Amino acid sequence: MAETAAHGDDAAAWPSSSVDLSAITEAEAADHIAQLTEMLSKANSDYHRDDAPTITDAEYDRAKRSLAALEEKFPQLAHPDSPTQQVGAAPSDAFGKITHAQRMMSLANAFDEAEVAEFVSRIRSFLGLEPEEGLDFTAEPKIDGLSLSLRYEDGRLVQAATRGDGTVGENVLANARTIADIPDTLNGTAPKMVEVRGEVYMSHDDFAALNAKGGARIFANPRNAAAGSLRQLDPEVTRSRPLKFFAYSWGELSEALAETQMRAVERLESFGFKINRLIRLCHTVEEMIAQWAAIEAQRASLGYDIDGVVYKVNDLAYQNRLGFRATTPRWALAHKFPAEIAWTRLRDIEIQVGRTGALSPVARLDPVTVGGVTVSNATLHNEDYIAGISSNGEKIRDTDIRIGDWVKVYRAGDVIPKISDVDEAKRDGSEKPFTFPETCPECGSAAIREPGDAVRRCTGGLICPAQAIEKLKHFVSRGAFDIEGLGAKQIEAFYRDDILPIRSPADIFTLAARDRENLAKLKNREGWGETSAQNLFDAIEQRRHIPLARLIYALGIRHVGEVVAADLARYFGSWDKFVAEIDAAIPAAERHMLADDAILHERAAAEAEGRRARISATREKVLSQEPALGPEAVAAYETLTNIDGIGAVVAQSLCATFSQQKERQSIDALVGHLTVEDAEIPDMAGSAIAGKTIVFTGTLERMTRAEAKARAEALGAKVAGSVSAKTDILVAGPGAGSKATKAAALGVEVIDEDTWLSLIG
Ligand code: IVH
Repeated sequence: MAETAAHGDDAAAWPSSSVDLSAITEAEAADHIAQLTEMLSKANSDYHRDDAPTITDAEYDRAKRSLAALEEKFPQLAHPDSPTQQVGAAPSDAFGKITHAQRMMSLANAFDEAEVAEFVSRIRSFLGLEPEEGLDFTAEPKIDGLSLSLRYEDGRLVQAATRGDGTVGENVLANARTIADIPDTLNGTAPKMVEVRGEVYMSHDDFAALNAKGGARIFANPRNAAAGSLRQLDPEVTRSRPLKFFAYSWGELSEALAETQMRAVERLESFGFKINRLIRLCHTVEEMIAQWAAIEAQRASLGYDIDGVVYKVNDLAYQNRLGFRATTPRWALAHKFPAEIAWTRLRDIEIQVGRTGALSPVARLDPVTVGGVTVSNATLHNEDYIAGISSNGEKIRDTDIRIGDWVKVYRAGDVIPKISDVDEAKRDGSEKPFTFPETCPECGSAAIREPGDAVRRCTGGLICPAQAIEKLKHFVSRGAFDIEGLGAKQIEAFYRDDILPIRSPADIFTLAARDRENLAKLKNREGWGETSAQNLFDAIEQRRHIPLARLIYALGIRHVGEVVAADLARYFGSWDKFVAEIDAAIPAAERHMLADDAILHERAAAEAEGRRARISATREKVLSQEPALGPEAVAAYETLTNIDGIGAVVAQSLCATFSQQKERQSIDALVGHLTVEDAEIPDMAGSAIAGKTIVFTGTLERMTRAEAKARAEALGAKVAGSVSAKTDILVAGPGAGSKATKAAALGVEVIDEDTWLSLIG
């Protein structure tokens, strides 16, 4: 089932239309779930395999919503293969997988003009451009569809892949061939091999006609319709759907297309692709903003959905120098259109406890459509936001937000909807002010706010079921262990299960063994069968081998996201080295945390006494307290905080986690079940600097510091901020001072900029 039903991404918001949820028992729910599952599975195969629908779309949607509502109420009954789990995505193994020759990136976003100006000046400074040197950008609509990569060899279409997770996509060649805008053979002078990238989308008219025609499910918006239509098991279904395609980019090439973005796009057109007519070349930030405004003014009359404007550096040699961050190019930016808004009633405020203990208020709303998507939940950020004050104590609204209020909801792109305003005129006195809890609603532990933190956090750690469950959900999520068949719903159910519980990550890896010893087998449970149980055990087995970066990310440590985890993995290379360094750093990290507390007190005292705070003296005093810190601890802490991209906040968070007994036991138990793959040092044939630690100092004349760092990292080196015994090379430009002296004392190799340039080719 590759379609998305009309309720958008907010299925739980809909009342069940055929089952009364309020009084239902678990046994009754299990019955209903079984019936609905059977009915929907049959409807799916009638519709897709046999092309002979047996129920109406409305019946289908109603059944699916009922099932979703039941599963939401009784997560322990939710089956991993439930038809509700297949919304918006065909079973992923239905399509072959394709590893992209070059990753398909996403785009950094900007929401206002200041961010656009900042983007331009960041690029100028990265490239080290003088004020008089020009820097042109293309500006073009950001099409709201799904991206597709088309590979042509000798002018013939040989491969078509969706973006997937950016690294691996799905093979949709047969479906892509049915799209009229996608040529089977290229015209003119195309390179021997070229990957053309662009957006598959559906026009407003075609979308309306498709939804009106019936026979197909009702789609929430043209993008879902395009996605559902492209990811069809039967290419004939795709052929019957009016999909279109704009080419705007490329992947691997056997030869360069042109010297500029603009000319390259023109070449794509000459091969026979549709390109977007609104693309313009801009010479200044003002021209970029003007083109953005011009495109926005035409938004309603274009006949297809766009959600912003994409700016790209025009000079492809510059693009090449700028390169990529973890998931986005440095040379492009999506400037989004303002968010869409709607007014609705705030029914209730609930507190959700996150993986790091943060208490987040969530607004439960009367369902309302905002820009084509039904919204019934929105974030309220934190308690200050509800009270109407910003994180630095300024008033952001005249009033607090109360239960029963009419509130303004807005959403921009894919981000979680937010509440931005209250209509005070609509108040009738029945509205209830909200008191933020000071204990965790899930485990009863104290929920405290650290000074300077806007967020109140549960102090229960792993004894808090909400934190434990959220940590587990994170653990199995996509960038982490990504275990097929073990998603958020199954985690909820297994956590509460008494026969075969999963309460910590290690439990996942003992699941199969425990099931073998149990009389009550998983396969005999409601909602499970021989195949689904075995598939789950197999999927878990596959993940016993795990790359270091994924493991670090999976632990769900505060401030350690995918990028930081990758940096740490690259730096330490192996799990053992990583843990040894943290263990060694713990005493120093604890001392620094004490010092931070002391500084906060000193600040408050200084303010009360009307004097300047003595910050470094206060830190020094705490650091030099008895017992004195050992030199290994000081050095290890310095190593950690010196890693580029990692500072005191991350270092302290890592040390705090590893020194907490319960957390540590949980991590050690987990790792005992795993084979952790060492971080790969990028395979840079001929790279003289792979695996080396480099420090830059002094002025570089031919390349900015930012570019030098990006180049070093792309060639597999680590870049550190200061010289230590671990430094391999110091690149010293004119004006290098104490770092050069220290390097000489430590016997570190010191080279000048010319040698550096020849080293990186
Ligand atoms: S360029 C390396 N240009 O937006 C950057 N992307 O948020 C390649 N998109 O995944 C993308 N219109 O699916 C580019 N004119 C445009 C686009 C565009 C839509 C999509 C694309 C990408 C997503 C990133």
